[in-house]
Amino acid sequence: MVKIGVLVSGRGTNLQAIIDSISEGKLEAEITLVISDQEEAPALERCRKAGVPWEVVRRKDHSSKEDFENAIAEKLEGSGCSLVVLAGFMRLLGSGFLSRFPDRVINIHPSLIPAFQGLKAQKRAVEFGARVSGCTVHLVDESVDGGPVVVQAVVPLLPEDDEESLSRKILEYEHRILPQTIQWFSEGRIEKRGRIVVVREAIYGTLPVNPALEKF
Ligand code: GRF
Repeated sequence: MVKIGVLVSGRGTNLQAIIDSISEGKLEAEITLVISDQEEAPALERCRKAGVPWEVVRRKDHSSKEDFENAIAEKLEGSGCSLVVLAGFMRLLGSGFLSRFPDRVINIHPSLIPAFQGLKAQKRAVEFGARVSGCTVHLVDESVDGGPVVVQAVVPLLPEDDEESLSRKILEYEHRILPQTIQWFSEGRIEKRGRIVVVREAIYGTLPVNPALEKF
């Protein structure tokens, strides 16, 4: 059973997927704290409904980025979590924060990184004319959506797709690969070999999700 802290900024559908996977008994995890940097984030309503502890930590209440990130890190540490999940958290975290949770911060990004790192990934994939896109769960380092990959899911990009339809297709897989990754952490199966992340005893080489999903 892994204890997780979740950082959010917005609507919180990935947070909801985690909450639902836990309540369905598929994901062996406990959410010790959700922190939002936006007091209006719809994600907070999801916390209220599910009885999950939450707090708002606003950038403007702190004089520097470091102070802001320290405040978040202290609250997370105080909650007892050992894994930090970025689920639509719209800020870059610095080295001070990351060094407090080494290789224990993960992010979900709506592209097959290193393609389309950064904002508006789905729109950029459509405009570029890519023929596949997808989503990635990766370990967070100081780069923008560039940390070591844990799992990726591939989605075909059709000529008739637009930003909205592609986002919808990708989101379905986001809601599966993020809980799956947390479950792998919970089972202690995540191993780092240099930069490469390997999920022990996972099935590799299968598409659309590689390594293969198990319960999700
Ligand atoms: C998702 O598309 C995620 O990949 C990206 O931000 C979005 C968050 O959506 N990092 P939600 O708040 O989980 O609904």
